[in-house]
Amino acid sequence: MAGKDEKDKVTEQAGAAGPRKLDRRDVLKGLSTVPALGLFGYAWQKQRQYQQATIEAAAAAPVASSDLQVINVALLGAGAQGQVLTDAMLRIPGLRFRAVCDVWTEYNQKRVVNQLRKFKHDVNAYENYREMLDREKELDAVVIATPDFWHSQHAVDCLKAGKHVYCEKEMSNTLEGARAMVVAARDTGKLLQIGHQRRSNPRYLHCYEKLLGEAKLLGRIVTLNGQWNRAVAPDLGAPDRYAIPEARLKQYGFKDMHQFRNWRWYKGLGGGPIVDLGSHQIDIYTWFLGVNPSHVMASGGQLFYDPKTHEWYDTVMAVFDYDTPAGPVKAYYQTQTTNGSQGYFENFMGDQGTLLISESEAHAAKLYRDTNAPAWDTWVQKGYITAPKVQEMKEKTEGVTDVRESVSPDEHNVPVVLRDPYHQPHLQNFFNAVRGKAKLNCPAEIGYESAVSVLKVNEAIEAKSRLSFKPEDFHI
Ligand SMILES: NC(=O)c1ccc[n+]([C@@H]2O[C@H](COP(=O)([O-])OP(=O)(O)OC[C@H]3O[C@@H](n4cnc5c(N)ncnc54)[C@H](O)[C@@H]3O)[C@@H](O)[C@H]2O)c1
Repeated sequence: MAGKDEKDKVTEQAGAAGPRKLDRRDVLKGLSTVPALGLFGYAWQKQRQYQQATIEAAAAAPVASSDLQVINVALLGAGAQGQVLTDAMLRIPGLRFRAVCDVWTEYNQKRVVNQLRKFKHDVNAYENYREMLDREKELDAVVIATPDFWHSQHAVDCLKAGKHVYCEKEMSNTLEGARAMVVAARDTGKLLQIGHQRRSNPRYLHCYEKLLGEAKLLGRIVTLNGQWNRAVAPDLGAPDRYAIPEARLKQYGFKDMHQFRNWRWYKGLGGGPIVDLGSHQIDIYTWFLGVNPSHVMASGGQLFYDPKTHEWYDTVMAVFDYDTPAGPVKAYYQTQTTNGSQGYFENFMGDQGTLLISESEAHAAKLYRDTNAPAWDTWVQKGYITAPKVQEMKEKTEGVTDVRESVSPDEHNVPVVLRDPYHQPHLQNFFNAVRGKAKLNCPAEIGYESAVSVLKVNEAIEAKSRLSFKPEDFHI
């Protein structure tokens, strides 16, 4: 392939799954004739990155030692995220893929099945998950990456069939659905990990355990803010020849191909950007503060996109209150989908310092020591944080500093880098738990608490008022 245009590679890979190969003309035709198809090209682009990562990952995958218990796995939902999870799982030793289930048999299912077979996994393909559960008796675990409104039924039925389950966030689009999942995990005694993958990310764990827990570098956290901003993007589409027949779409709860591809924006299917994106980060607010919120107020609306096809809010600004043992905290969160400025991060601010953290390498993690805080030399010497950057600059500019300006705080980096795909540690934690060698980092109960906080934001926007949480809201 050396020297080939990147897009040609994509189309060849994508075409390998379909009845005929897609070429550049198909892409251009798709982009020019029907605007909605524009994002299919974008999806290919994403897919190319995933497949590239997969090939490298599989090549680098360590060989399983002979005493490692092999886990038989099925993937339920082989879309964009199912692909990301598959790529990460291909790097984890001791997994044997047995089945892939996806209702988009014409495209997503074929793509992942072909990929797994290429990597010598003898997988069976299913459209209907019940048939898969009936036939695949040897399955130990199912990894679920279907749209949110399917999670509850899929997870509950898999648990009841005796499988351990890794289910993507948002745990469910309804609290009833999420509750049923917690109950099913308890009743069956099977493991249910929810896909808030930051909870297994070594950078987040280091900040939580060492910097906030042991060193208490921020002092008392009083405020925090976070965001996930995204640039304007066209709706997702699909070429006509890959369209799912209407009867099958209806059977699985979609009114048409547009809704099938853009389910996140539809009420009853997803929860809009606040649930899709915000759920990751609001989960971190709660985790790092150690308590669930007491109140939330929020404002949001359909400020940009067509409300007929974007039933959920494209812009949300929310403020949570937390009553922590150390005192009250105000926490702001915004997500907007019309400008991607500064991407996504969480920013914890205490009376002694600030922690800016993100899953993205664009921000990684940085600590800022407030001028009134005790020296952090011990923590630099211990290797918890790097030596401050700004101090060096101050020395260089000594004598020209304008004393009327406040001195900017020292900036330290967090020397923990995740070199694996973002989701790999969380999946590894799940499979280690299946082998009885670890505790889940995000069991059903934690996923439920997070769902309670996040789903309430949409309620607060509708209610146009500040809503309160009762402690019992978070427990089942
Ligand atoms: N943890 C993360 O960082 C992260 C990132 C992206 C998405 N997600 C989550 O992953 C899930 C999937 O998102 P996505 O972006 O891959 O969506 P997607 O639309 O790309 O993929 C969903 C797949 O599920 C299939 N499907 C739909 N209904 C089905 C059913 N009843 N049975 C079998 N297959 C069915 C579709 O054909 C499609 O292939 C969502 O819950 C989303 O919130 C998590």
